Amino acid sequence: MKFEDHLKAHQARAEAALDRWLPAATRAPARLHEAMRYAVLGPGKRVRPVLVYATGQALAAELDHLDSSAAAVEFIHAYSLVHDDLPAMDDDDLRRGRPTCHRAYDEATAILAGDALQALAFHALAHDERLPVPPLRRIEMIALLAEASGSLGMAGGQAIDLEAVGRKLTLEQLENMHLHKTGALIRASVRLGFMAAGGVDAGAERQLDIYSRSIGLAFQVHDDILDVEGATEVIGKPQGSDIDRDKPTYPNLLGMAEAKATARRLCDEAVESLADFGPGADGLRDLARYIVGRDR
Ligand code: IPE
Ligand code: IPE
Ligand code: MG
Ligand code: MG
Ligand code: MG
Repeated sequence: MKFEDHLKAHQARAEAALDRWLPAATRAPARLHEAMRYAVLGPGKRVRPVLVYATGQALAAELDHLDSSAAAVEFIHAYSLVHDDLPAMDDDDLRRGRPTCHRAYDEATAILAGDALQALAFHALAHDERLPVPPLRRIEMIALLAEASGSLGMAGGQAIDLEAVGRKLTLEQLENMHLHKTGALIRASVRLGFMAAGGVDAGAERQLDIYSRSIGLAFQVHDDILDVEGATEVIGKPQGSDIDRDKPTYPNLLGMAEAKATARRLCDEAVESLADFGPGADGLRDLARYIVGRDR
């Protein structure tokens, strides 16, 4: 199968899993459930779920076993976007080509939708009956996602981001911010895929971790590039948001050419880290290239 077809199939699979775990929009409190579904379903790229599936495939896992991990990490991601767009944070009105959650609903509902999506992520991991792992490993998966989401992971990265507004960071500080705010969940996606697949080989785990660290950083470097070079209609969010808010970014610190070279280098490092894996890991290799080549 071509990468594009593979990507579409895994995106559709993720969409179905997300839909199954989300409460119906008619269920009370209906406005909250509607807002949660609005924030999650629709035109997201589903990169994190697709990474879970691709990691599982590299280890010859059944896709059925990976659905709750895929959904859980995307619920955390969707919640992070809802809160990221709030007036107190990036104050953006457009997300995935549509009004942001707090614009479509209201700020209080958006805050609660984010809160509830975060809880739903852990609910999915805790309750999935098709996840074929022993109870202790399930707890480790929940703990892993908690760490990646919290003050030492994504939320911590967002705090660094807010503190950095209007300041000039060193390259090391910028890298640290990106590794937390975006890298942590991408890394967790690969680790959850490994754990859900019943992975036990410590060497493979280490190589996958190097892969995911590189693409996690590359993902945010490319996001920074798209903020400058993308068109609002294509990226589905306001072009120039970082510039307007005076955010430190890779293009801002290094210049555009060097930012692009950094993304390419990280992609190469990611692919190299999979040298010991066979063709089963082609999905991961293709995803690394997709992450630094995408137009949205
Ligand atoms: C945007 O993430 C926010 C970042 C962490 C850079 P994505 O680019 O994955 O957004 P969606 O899910 O496809 O909308
Ligand atoms: C967002 O970074 C990272 C998280 C949501 C955790 P950005 O603020 O750059 O994401 P976009 O560009 O709004 O999607
Ligand atoms: Mg932000
Ligand atoms: Mg933002
Ligand atoms: Mg951005």
